[in-house]
Amino acid sequence: MKVVASISQGLEKEGVQEVSELGAKSVKASRRHLLFEADMSCLYRLHLKSRLCFRFLREIARFPCNGPRELYSGVQRAINWKKWLLPQKSFRVDVTGIGDGLSHSHYTALQVKNSIIDMQREQWGSRSSIDLIKPDFCFHLHLSNRQAVLSVDGSNSSLHKRGYRPAVGLAPIKETLAAGLMRMTGWDGTDHLVDPLCGSGTLLIEAVNDFLNIAPGLERHFLFENWPDFDVSLWNRELKLAKKVDSFKGKLPKIIGCELDEVIANLAIENIIKSGLENYIEIINCPFQELKLPAGSGVLVCNPPYGKRIGDENQLPNLYKELGYFCKENASGWNLWLLNGNPKLSKYIGMKASRRFQVNNGSIDCRWLNYEIK
Ligand SMILES: C[S@@+](CC[C@H](N)C(=O)[O-])C[C@H]1O[C@@H](n2cnc3c(N)ncnc32)[C@H](O)[C@@H]1O
Repeated sequence: MKVVASISQGLEKEGVQEVSELGAKSVKASRRHLLFEADMSCLYRLHLKSRLCFRFLREIARFPCNGPRELYSGVQRAINWKKWLLPQKSFRVDVTGIGDGLSHSHYTALQVKNSIIDMQREQWGSRSSIDLIKPDFCFHLHLSNRQAVLSVDGSNSSLHKRGYRPAVGLAPIKETLAAGLMRMTGWDGTDHLVDPLCGSGTLLIEAVNDFLNIAPGLERHFLFENWPDFDVSLWNRELKLAKKVDSFKGKLPKIIGCELDEVIANLAIENIIKSGLENYIEIINCPFQELKLPAGSGVLVCNPPYGKRIGDENQLPNLYKELGYFCKENASGWNLWLLNGNPKLSKYIGMKASRRFQVNNGSIDCRWLNYEIK
């Protein structure tokens, strides 16, 4: 099967590595997407175990499309709809891209929907209902270069919604981005890990889940369970394999989140408990300026406010200066990774980044900066 995965801009390289490790073949990356081949077991495994990708779309047809009429007839001919979509099953259509006479995704989605339900009415005298929130099927149409690609999405909601974070602090980063950033740090459970401005704790939770090999999708219901070729025995095998992780017997180094705001610190604790990681991650409610770092070597990761969504831009230079000062005073020999969405601020850290990676945090162009603290 041909599969397209969507991913945050800047994580494509790590994404290629992740999906390849999970069995994807002939993987190619383009901006915010990965294209690859996968068999059914691999597709199930990706949904269960990928930490970096938002969605996996399985291509089911592709056809030329030069306008609304061709789209309407192309959709009807694309697949055996009798097999795929019984009228008692609901669906939703998502659209990306544009084509001739098809420049509004809402209109394009309507064309696809009308094409499907008109055909159902003709065949059965009844039609599927549309359910935008909890559909049985989610079809996806992508238009580009006078071509339409029809796919099915294996999951209703984006895979970054892991379920452990009903409680979010101010401007949290998505779980998928946090997982990708942590992968970039190369933290392997040897050194201490500290987030001095931890918010709802996402970076630490993703890091520890990855280290413990806890699959993020174990508790989810997936839409591929409704597909006509859903293979329950393959699925059960993948689910069993994903659940079967050797429990970690060793001792992890200190993993600490520090948060100034008491309410947010409590949200972080709630999220950690919901993830079952309370024996691994400690949250301390204080300003990082007062935090005592554990002895030994370590990695600091953080996503300080940068004035776009939170933080008063006039106060922030001081916060960055103090963070730089804190690192030099307390964390000599450690590594700092800092997500920054405001280039004016990072200079106040007072250290030179040895590596920098461009990533998008939602629509904000950011840099994931790595400093070796002297
Ligand atoms: C952008 S948020 C971090 C979001 C976090 N990565 C998450 O996913 O939830 C920045 C956090 O830094 C906290 N903060 C600001 N100044 C601080 C300080 N001096 N010490 C500790 N935390 C601070 C804020 O309360 C806020 O929760």
